[in-house]
Amino acid sequence: MDLQEKYDAKDLYLLAKKGDYSAEGQEVNVGGYVKNNRFMGQIGFLAINDGSCFDSIQVVYTDKEFDSISVGSTIMAKGKIHFTPEAKQPFEVDATEITLVGKCTESYPLQKKKTGFDYLRNIPQWRMKTNTFNAVFRVRSTLAYYIHQYFHEKGYLWIHTPILTGNDCEGEGQTFNIYADKKNPEEYFNKDNVHLTVSGQLHVEPFALTYGKVYTFGPTFRAEKSNTTRHAAEFWMIEPEIAWAHLSDLCDIEEDFLKYVVKKTKDECSQDMEFFSKFVDKDLNKRLDDFINVPFKRVKYTDAIEILQKAVKDGHKFEVSDISFGLDLGSEHERYLTETVFKGPIFLTDYPKEIKAFYMKQNEDGKTVGACDLLVPSIGELCGGSEREADYDKLLNRMQELNMQIPLYQWYLDLRLNGSIPHSGFGLGFERLVMLVTGMTNIRDTLPYPRCYRDMMF
Ligand code: 4AD
Ligand code: MG
Repeated sequence: MDLQEKYDAKDLYLLAKKGDYSAEGQEVNVGGYVKNNRFMGQIGFLAINDGSCFDSIQVVYTDKEFDSISVGSTIMAKGKIHFTPEAKQPFEVDATEITLVGKCTESYPLQKKKTGFDYLRNIPQWRMKTNTFNAVFRVRSTLAYYIHQYFHEKGYLWIHTPILTGNDCEGEGQTFNIYADKKNPEEYFNKDNVHLTVSGQLHVEPFALTYGKVYTFGPTFRAEKSNTTRHAAEFWMIEPEIAWAHLSDLCDIEEDFLKYVVKKTKDECSQDMEFFSKFVDKDLNKRLDDFINVPFKRVKYTDAIEILQKAVKDGHKFEVSDISFGLDLGSEHERYLTETVFKGPIFLTDYPKEIKAFYMKQNEDGKTVGACDLLVPSIGELCGGSEREADYDKLLNRMQELNMQIPLYQWYLDLRLNGSIPHSGFGLGFERLVMLVTGMTNIRDTLPYPRCYRDMMF
């Protein structure tokens, strides 16, 4: 069988869905890996998946010899397509020829018995063949596509910011350091502080000040020793940066963007989404519909603190219950706000400057900065962003207060000297978005090959 002659399951399902039965009785070639094979005395059914969509193709055969084809083998089949709109399977292929292309041995790790996500994490090279992961990686790819589509349609430029950098954008020092020669680490770049990027923001800001609307979308690395279900050492981040935008504009853009990509992906991946709603998270459908349709609320940090203080007074137990202005909210507080109090996504804005990064716009009150974190039910922080401090002296003062090495960042500071424009941006953790859309609860199950603290397969 040539590739040109091979039919994709997706195209056949589309015909069935449209009620276009004109191909009835036509000969087709299909191929894929066997998900199931059962022979019932006279007639056998091979379910094969070719990866083009969630659902498998049902190949019907009568020759008992094919009964021995085991799950995990790959086959190709030639046969007549028969539409069965009244049945669970909307079509089948009545085989005239079946060829075993790749047999499967007993070492195949996805035998029929149910396999938990924990087990599957140890075999990332196989787990995409299971229903759940097959759907996860299709949804992941589709989300990425619509992210690019949204920005392209709105006139943003995609800027490829570097992975190797000498700057620590978030100022937390949680970086993976790199060198070419262990004995002489400074030799290659003639620098002693080269590491993998924690954010493309600093490098993308000059592009925003030139092109107006830009974004990054690329691998991001954090060496934080957080062994949680929401932190990875290597993840992907989307960072739009918009000239002329103030904090409230930023929230508007963020909300419009997220609603767009979630809706488009949900519509396009309907088979996958149906599976997630049935088998992964029964509330998913409703939660995503609300996400798309209900406006996100905006709450100031100071008001959130009051809400949390009242909750403690009323008897709610937090692990950290000493709550006052200045507290860096933990995920228990964030989730209480978004899940219990507001019951939906919220922008939390205007945080104390002490708990946020140096580049954020300093508010008039001298205490807070124009930051906004987007908190969503079941995940917590989905995006972090802010308006940027556009005034040279204010930014320099803050950097000095934080004892930053100014010469390393002089290039960035200088952007405020020559043609500075107010501007804002945010960072979206791509895997957290995949978690939101699929209902998967561990970030390790949204990454093809997860790299997390103390956790990395080949
Ligand atoms: O809040 P963060 O640290 O913000 C920044 O890096 C800014 N420079 C973004 C900007 O304004 N351009 O990170 C942004 C988002 C978080 O909200 C979270 O979703 C995700 O990145 N993120 C992680 N995702 C997975 N694993 C980790 N270790 C993550 N750290 C942050
Ligand atoms: Mg953050």
